[in-house]
Amino acid sequence: MEPDERAAPQWADCYRALVARKTDDIPALRTVLAAAPPGEVLELGAGFGRLALAAARDGRQVVAVEPSRMMLDYRDAFFEGVPADIRRRVDWRVADARESDGRERDAGRYAAVVCGYNGLNEIVDGLPEVIDGAARALAPGGLLHLDWCADPYERPGLVEFYDYLEFSGQRWAAFTIVQELPGGRHDLTLMYERVDGVTARERLYQVVPRRTWPREDVLRLAAAAGLEHHQSLSGGNVMVFVNKGGSRSRADR
Ligand SMILES: C[S@@+](CC[C@H](N)C(=O)[O-])C[C@H]1O[C@@H](n2cnc3c(N)ncnc32)[C@H](O)[C@@H]1O
Repeated sequence: MEPDERAAPQWADCYRALVARKTDDIPALRTVLAAAPPGEVLELGAGFGRLALAAARDGRQVVAVEPSRMMLDYRDAFFEGVPADIRRRVDWRVADARESDGRERDAGRYAAVVCGYNGLNEIVDGLPEVIDGAARALAPGGLLHLDWCADPYERPGLVEFYDYLEFSGQRWAAFTIVQELPGGRHDLTLMYERVDGVTARERLYQVVPRRTWPREDVLRLAAAAGLEHHQSLSGGNVMVFVNKGGSRSRADR
C-alpha cells in the first residue's frame, strides 16, 4: 500500500491526534544535531514536519522529504503560527526516500540525515537504497540518525490499548493490532473506537504496512555504505552513524 492510500479524511484527524503531541523523541534528535557539524539537515519520511520543525527551531536549515499528500496537508496546519523565519528554514520535497535520482546532486551536502519515529519501518522495501542514499548525502563528519523499531512484535494478533485521543470533536480510544505477513512484513492496524457516550459502536481502522528491520541488517548496510556506528541512544532504539570519509558517490565505490 502506498502512503497516500491512507488519505481518507478521518485518517488525517486520527494520525494528527496520535502523533502531533509526541515529543519524547526530540531530546535524542537534539543530542544528535548538537554533535553534528554545522550545516543542513535532510529528513527522510518527514511526515507533517514534527522533527523538521524541532530542528528548524534549533537553527538548522532542513530539507524535508515526504511523499504522502495526507502528511503534506497536515503540515500547513501544524506550521500555523510558527514564525516565518523558522518556517522558511524547512524546504519540502515531495519525493520517495528510496529514489536516489534527486539526491545525486546533493552528494556530501548534509551535516545530518534523519529518519525518525519508525520511518524505516514504513519503508517496507528498499532499505539498502535508503541507507546508501543517506550515506552519499552526508558531508564528512556528518551524522545519520535512525530511530526505528528493530525488534519483532511480541504479541501479533492481540488487540492492545494504546491511548485516548480527541479528534473530530469526539473522544476515542486507540488500539493497535499487529498482523504478521511473510518476509518480515507486518500490517500494523490502528483501531479507533468512540468512547464518548455512544449508543452504537463506531470504529475506524487505519492500516500501516510496516517491517521491523533487525539492527544487524542496518549495521551491515551502514558499514557497506562507508558509515561507522557512532552511538546508540534511547535504550538502543536510536542508532547514530558517522561518515568518516569524504563525500562519496556511487561511482566512487
Ligand atoms: C511514522 S511517520 C514519521 C513522520 C515524522 N518523521 C515524525 O517523526 O513525525 C513515517 C513517514 O514516512 C513516510 N514514508 C513512507 N514511505 C516512504 C518513502 N518510501 N519515502 C519517504 N517517506 C516515506 C510516511 O508517509 C510517513 O510520513
